[in-house]
Amino acid sequence: MKIAMIGSGYVGLVSGSCFADFGHSVTCVDLDQGKIDALNRGEMPIYEPGLDQLVAGNVAAGRLFFTTDLASAVAGAQVVFIAVGTPSRRGDGHADLSYIHAAARDIARAVDGFTVVVTKSTVPVGTGDEVERIIRETNHEADVAVVSNPEFLREGAAIADFKRPDRVVVGIEDERARQVMSEVYRPLNLNQAPVMFTERRTSELIKYAANAFLAVKVTFINEIADLCEKVGANVQEVSRGVGLDKRIGPKFLHAGPGYGGSCFPKDTVALVKTAQDYDSPIRLVETTIAVNDQRKRAMARKVITACGGDVRGKTIGLLGLTFKPNTDDMREAPSISIVQALIDAGAAVRAYDPEGMAAARAVLDEKVTYVASAYDVADDAAAIVIVTEWDAFRALDLARLKERMASPILVDLRNVYQPYEVLRHGFSYSSVGRVA
Ligand code: UDX
Repeated sequence: MKIAMIGSGYVGLVSGSCFADFGHSVTCVDLDQGKIDALNRGEMPIYEPGLDQLVAGNVAAGRLFFTTDLASAVAGAQVVFIAVGTPSRRGDGHADLSYIHAAARDIARAVDGFTVVVTKSTVPVGTGDEVERIIRETNHEADVAVVSNPEFLREGAAIADFKRPDRVVVGIEDERARQVMSEVYRPLNLNQAPVMFTERRTSELIKYAANAFLAVKVTFINEIADLCEKVGANVQEVSRGVGLDKRIGPKFLHAGPGYGGSCFPKDTVALVKTAQDYDSPIRLVETTIAVNDQRKRAMARKVITACGGDVRGKTIGLLGLTFKPNTDDMREAPSISIVQALIDAGAAVRAYDPEGMAAARAVLDEKVTYVASAYDVADDAAAIVIVTEWDAFRALDLARLKERMASPILVDLRNVYQPYEVLRHGFSYSSVGRVA
């Protein structure tokens, strides 16, 4: 199967290289010449474990290509995926569909023969109808079927998620396209991945409903964690006790500093906007967004309290800046709000992140002193805060850390440590939803 992937960002690059790995011939397209040149040199624009080898292997095998020439990639393809960004629109939080619409116009001008056009980007309900309308309006001769096929991959585990998905959702209204999409995903049959065919609008909504539900689940356990601190309960045990109920499940019940990333924050807001437009508000998600926003800054208050109520003139060391481990993504990371709130309270901030320092500099700039290792964060620190649960922070030499600190205070926003381990090293310790 010949595939064109329009947009070589996270979703496009991972999906494109995985499809190539399954034997399809894939051409990834991007407008950004610099990005395409870098990819052709084997340099990845993002950090995702395993992606560089996957790309290199498939380029070498002659199944994966990178180009800025959309027209020839589309003309030679039976399936064209749209995987361009759908950022939050400035001002109102609706998904900005301008890149999708532009891609639809470009595709319309280039298609040759029957072509299945698939939106992989997260798009609001009805976008497939609009893409179809734009293509037909731009090129009356175009023989296309427009399909929705949302992507559920998680950053940091994207390749495994793509190859062993819980499910593949395909929103389709055309029998020919159904056969083509079955062929595209046939390699997953061996992994017994359920491929679910549904109507296009249903498929579009599934993606938003899934992300919103997970955001609600995380936010729910975060509020339970706050209550645990007040009543003297342990949120990790509450999560386990609750998650063992098969109707609930154990995942997404880790209390922490609030969700971030490229999807949950933007997709929850976009869903709320769509729901309001249709006069069918989803208040549970509206509240989740508000609770999560407040939570990120509230985490800085937790640090200030741990420091005796005042951090003016003190240095606070942060371990981890990215919104979660195994990514260099800083989008909507809780660290951004935490750093700002600590600076507002008069503190100086030192930080280390295994992969996210360059991306963090772009967002936080001079607000932070960046250091080269977890231990360098400790120098003169009044407290150390674990913000992201990178593996490298899970077995720190606490005695070594303590030696370099001004005062031995550890605030663990991801519950990486057990209180007794930290307390026996003479630290004062606070975490989320557990009383030390
Ligand atoms: C998410 C969805 O999981 C994925 O299906 C979708 O395609 C894109 O959005 P991602 O943003 O990569 O993926 O991160 P995810 O692992 O889902 O975590 C989202 C946020 O929730 C992170 O900030 C994470 O730290 C937080 N989280 C997650 C918790 O705080 N506790 C949990 O138990 C799980």
